[in-house]
Amino acid sequence: MGSFGIPLFPEQASTFASDVDALYFFMVAVSAFFALLIAVAAITLGVRYRRRHPDEAGARIEGNLPLELLWSVIPAVITMVMFGWGASVFYHLRRPPDEAVQLYAVGKQWMWKFQHLEGQREINELHVPAGRPIKVTVTSEDVIHSLYFPSFRTKIDAIPGRYQTLWFEPSKVGRYHIFCTEYCGTKHSGMIGSVFVMEPAAYQQWLSGGGEGSLADRGNSLFQDLACNTCHLDTGQGRGPSLSGVFGKPVELEDGSTVLADEAYLRESILNSQAKIVRGFQPLMPTFQGLVSEEGLVALIEHIKSLSPQSTGPAPASPGDDRLQPTTTGASQPAPAARPPQGQQ
Ligand code: CUA
Repeated sequence: MGSFGIPLFPEQASTFASDVDALYFFMVAVSAFFALLIAVAAITLGVRYRRRHPDEAGARIEGNLPLELLWSVIPAVITMVMFGWGASVFYHLRRPPDEAVQLYAVGKQWMWKFQHLEGQREINELHVPAGRPIKVTVTSEDVIHSLYFPSFRTKIDAIPGRYQTLWFEPSKVGRYHIFCTEYCGTKHSGMIGSVFVMEPAAYQQWLSGGGEGSLADRGNSLFQDLACNTCHLDTGQGRGPSLSGVFGKPVELEDGSTVLADEAYLRESILNSQAKIVRGFQPLMPTFQGLVSEEGLVALIEHIKSLSPQSTGPAPASPGDDRLQPTTTGASQPAPAARPPQGQQ
């Protein structure tokens, strides 16, 4: 978007880009107005009431209640308008709709790695459909990065050991920038990429061109490679709890408390397996810290999600949700032959 023909701003390419810009321009306009008002007043009054003779003394002024109230109340009202407006935009930005297309992003010195649930993996490139909300779950495998889509007016920090989410709904087909906006080392400025917003039909075609199995399938083969399936039996008779239907449900722990089985809980239970012991089970599970890459972790999580179809998304009728149906159910299924190596990047 050009302002008066000058390309000062990135294009507005998401549904909330114009909301963010409107708030931003309002704040710039208010700041510019008062900066100008104060500068003009300081200069005018300085000239008008300057000392003209060496023996002149200024008048003694004790205060002016109406004036002081005025310059307290007006800024208070203006800042509350900014706060209220900002909070409403922020709420919108921070709450992904339930029907959003989900994908994962992992930041690493110095690249962005994206994984689609359907199986496609990309580096420094991201393909998304226009006109559908997209939810990105973001983490980092080394230092703090920040995933920024300037044309969508949204960003989120990528923090090691934590899942954060952002969402956007691309409104225009095209190619837009991806930046890292958190200084993360020597090649921080080179940690850039492109997001390709495609017509939904072209996107569907692009999705079907991958052919290396869904993310959940990859998680399933990793589940077997790591021998998770030898303890986590579907029957519930294994040394570890059955993982069928676990995702999105409360889990009762040994100490009597309960925890929601979300992505963060699953991640912690894989890497720091002694942190939360499920009631009725022994703390036998080894830690998988250092043995599973960030991409492997999200694949395992998607596999576990796929064992709980109803809690992973909206009604099965919505388009594209066939990927949310359980694809395999643990031990009985043979692992797909060609599993791409994990964490090779
Ligand atoms: Cu990654 Cu800056």
